[in-house]
Amino acid sequence: MNVLVIGSGGREHALGWKLKQSPRCGKLFFTPGNGGTSFLGTNVALFNDKVDTKTVDAIDYFCRQNQVELIVIGPEDPLAAGLADRLAKPGRTVFGPVAAAARLEADKAYCKQLLRNASIPTAEARIFTNHSAALAYVQSRETPVVVKAAGLAKGKGVVVCDDAAQAQDAVNLIMRDHAFGEAGDTIVVEERLVGQEVSLLALVDGRNIFVLEPAQDHKQIGEGDVGPNTGGMGSYSPTPLIDDALMAVIESQILVPTVDALRREGVEYRGVLYAGLMLTAGGPKVLEFNCRFGDPETQTLMLRLKGDLLEIMLAVAGPGPSSAGQGSPANWPKLDEVDLSWDPRCSVCVVMASGGYPGDYKKGIPITGIEAANALEGVRVFHAGTTTTRDGTLVTAGGRVLNVCAVGADLKEAQARANAACAKIHFEGAQYRRDIGFRVMK
Ligand code: AMP
Ligand code: GLY
Repeated sequence: MNVLVIGSGGREHALGWKLKQSPRCGKLFFTPGNGGTSFLGTNVALFNDKVDTKTVDAIDYFCRQNQVELIVIGPEDPLAAGLADRLAKPGRTVFGPVAAAARLEADKAYCKQLLRNASIPTAEARIFTNHSAALAYVQSRETPVVVKAAGLAKGKGVVVCDDAAQAQDAVNLIMRDHAFGEAGDTIVVEERLVGQEVSLLALVDGRNIFVLEPAQDHKQIGEGDVGPNTGGMGSYSPTPLIDDALMAVIESQILVPTVDALRREGVEYRGVLYAGLMLTAGGPKVLEFNCRFGDPETQTLMLRLKGDLLEIMLAVAGPGPSSAGQGSPANWPKLDEVDLSWDPRCSVCVVMASGGYPGDYKKGIPITGIEAANALEGVRVFHAGTTTTRDGTLVTAGGRVLNVCAVGADLKEAQARANAACAKIHFEGAQYRRDIGFRVMK
């Protein structure tokens, strides 16, 4: 089966790496892909952020010409824009939810209302479309709040505030100055929760839910979780914070009721449902839902997943629209039958970023040492912001450049291996955290 992966991050490289291990995987294409995916498969220039008719037609035509039967959509923007809906055709499986389901991530006001209506634990919140009403509200609050643009803002539309002055600034930034454009026409102002954050990703085939191993990420640039937020500086899996009892609570009080609530609205959720949870003194609460694999959590999960990702994705996505009547072909994989077992070891992902990130940084800097890093025991390097020049040199092309991952008997060993691998890799200005996982290490 030929496969096309849409996206260009470390997540897509890791998914492609795992898909390629399937005996059923034929040709593997990425669009736009990155420097690493070009060694694993073929990068094609079809998609670059926009979901317009030209792009959809180009992907559609390419898939017909190249007998692509599975399309995997990595990022949230194209999912929210309806790419999965538009690519669905007989004889083709699209992994990634339809726009109506992706709305859970793309519209935080919608998500909050759905959670509230279904009595699913989440932060208390108010929704505003009026700037002065929002300002008056945050001025009147005595406890800290979080101000969120309701729409998609490349992960930047959330401001965690310490006091009313910061909350006013955030409301002004989003609603008056339109810092995130239309994404900030509606805002959610919610109570600031305290606790550790975990990422729980579940596979959903419309009805059944299979929860993947828990993971955590580190968003801040500096060791010890200090400094500005980034797209993620590292991740690890599993986390000892979630035991079987807590997992059962999360499934029964959060995941199952969410999928049920969507179904009551006529929305069939197929894909990854990623719950960003805060483990508070009052139990786990939903911070947000994402409609896709997490980045960089996926990199650590793919290192530990034993089963065949291609089979798993077929089971989750289903056979797609059929030209010959109803129902799945008899031999189509099913979520409760595919192998979803895990390597019991731990994995750590360390993000190597460009100097200056998350502020301004240079691009086009040559990278060396990846082969030496990959040769170390338990190590796997995924690419994110890399590209190859015409003469074949691998260079930096983004803020987060490489995802240096390793498995180990415990988190300490995995971290030590990943750090040792980072030490083998060189590009001018490279920065990374050596403490990934510290929050749960003894
Ligand atoms: P979101 O995109 O809604 O998950 O928000 C991004 C980040 O902001 C989360 O990963 C949290 O670190 C933080 N955050 C969001 N909502 C809250 C909240 N209610 N209380 C504390 N921190 C929050
Ligand atoms: N790891 C955070 C995210 O994927 O949104």
